[in-house]
Amino acid sequence: MAYKDFNMDNHWLPFTPNRHFRKEPRVFVGAEGMHFTTHDGRKVVDGISSLWCVGAGHARAPINEAIKKQLDTLDYSTAFQASNDKAFEAAEMIAAMAPGDLNKVLFCNSGSEAADTSLKVALAYHRAGGEGHRNVFIGRERGYHGVGFGGMSVGGIPANRKVYGTALLPRVDHMRFIHDPVNNAYIHNQEPVWQEDILLELENRILPLHDPSNIAAIIVEPVAGSAGWYLPPKGYLQRLREICDKHGILLIFDEVITGFGRMGTNFAADYYGVVPDMLNFAKCVTNGVIPLGGVICRDKLYDAMMKTEAPEHVVEFFHGYTYSGHPVACAAAIATLNLYKQENLFQRAGEMGKVLGDAFHSIFKGLPNVIGIRSLGLAAAVELAPIAGSPGKRAYQIYLDCFKKGALVRPAGDVLVIAPPYIVEKSHIDTLVNTLADSIRAHA
Ligand SMILES: Cc1ncc(COP(=O)(O)O)c(C=O)c1O
Repeated sequence: MAYKDFNMDNHWLPFTPNRHFRKEPRVFVGAEGMHFTTHDGRKVVDGISSLWCVGAGHARAPINEAIKKQLDTLDYSTAFQASNDKAFEAAEMIAAMAPGDLNKVLFCNSGSEAADTSLKVALAYHRAGGEGHRNVFIGRERGYHGVGFGGMSVGGIPANRKVYGTALLPRVDHMRFIHDPVNNAYIHNQEPVWQEDILLELENRILPLHDPSNIAAIIVEPVAGSAGWYLPPKGYLQRLREICDKHGILLIFDEVITGFGRMGTNFAADYYGVVPDMLNFAKCVTNGVIPLGGVICRDKLYDAMMKTEAPEHVVEFFHGYTYSGHPVACAAAIATLNLYKQENLFQRAGEMGKVLGDAFHSIFKGLPNVIGIRSLGLAAAVELAPIAGSPGKRAYQIYLDCFKKGALVRPAGDVLVIAPPYIVEKSHIDTLVNTLADSIRAHA
């Protein structure tokens, strides 16, 4: 099939340079296991789990069968004032996987909705506890929490914020970024150790500036995914937890990328041994097959909201989506989570992560323009020096070249990331890493 068969006049692609795409379209028409088929009949290995979603690999029969069965049983039912059996079952499974007393699941459809939902829970919770003045949010530079106005406001990727000016939430501040390109440029399966305590900035500048009693929540990705797989300094998340506890601030982990196996554990919260007050998820929960996201809340949040003096017919939390807990999405989640367990895929992700990290550090170190390599869990990043005056161009060109050579990798600024499905074999890792290395050399 030639790309001319597609009318490209109407589909406006998200987060894509559309003008260039029209000249060089990349269109998938099929997928199975680790591979896609493109419109021009080529095989491409999925080196990024299709935006960190497809943990179990493509076209998995148990998930597809569960979806088909659900469609013929209960296709959809109202989400408000009633629910469906699969939503309860999925919530129970998810709560059982989450650490500590993260037990109450608010479903939505995406990571962006999860971000906005968690920020709204924070405000509503504080108000329910008589602390409605707590309405400042703190994110982090280069954080990504999706594209809703809430998530965008606490997010810290400049290009995603630049155009939206005063439409961003007003009472938001950002902590400094967690990367030290001098001392921690090369990190392999370990936590970067900093000489300096970078949370002193939060304690000594940001909290006093707003007064801690006004702060509703701090939101971070445990590992900064979209920015290019940046790892938190050793002890950082534990200390962040302590600071939040000291001041009555809620801690939100955005685990849209790190949740459900990427770190070799259920969640990054388990990997780092830190339990947040809310944990946002999406993507891998359904293997990417059907949109589903959510926020897992600690019991205390739910309990505080249920303690209202209002009569029982009154809604306690005025928030929700038509498709919150959609039965087909929840059926997909149940089948996906069962499949991860049956095939021990999280453990496999941890094991294959070491293979991926070894390959990155042995093959990329010393290649032209390589200024950093980071690996942890089943994801690794190679950072390149930008072309002077054209940030992001080198990585984009390399991405295009890899695609032509049959490997889907992910450019993020001048970083290239590989985060394959958990079913990945060493042979796929070799293909991905060697293809990327060839392209890095070709674009020296
Ligand atoms: C950490 C994080 N939060 C939120 C989102 C937004 O998710 P979605 O694109 O499903 O809205 C993403 C997407 O990559 C993400 O990585």
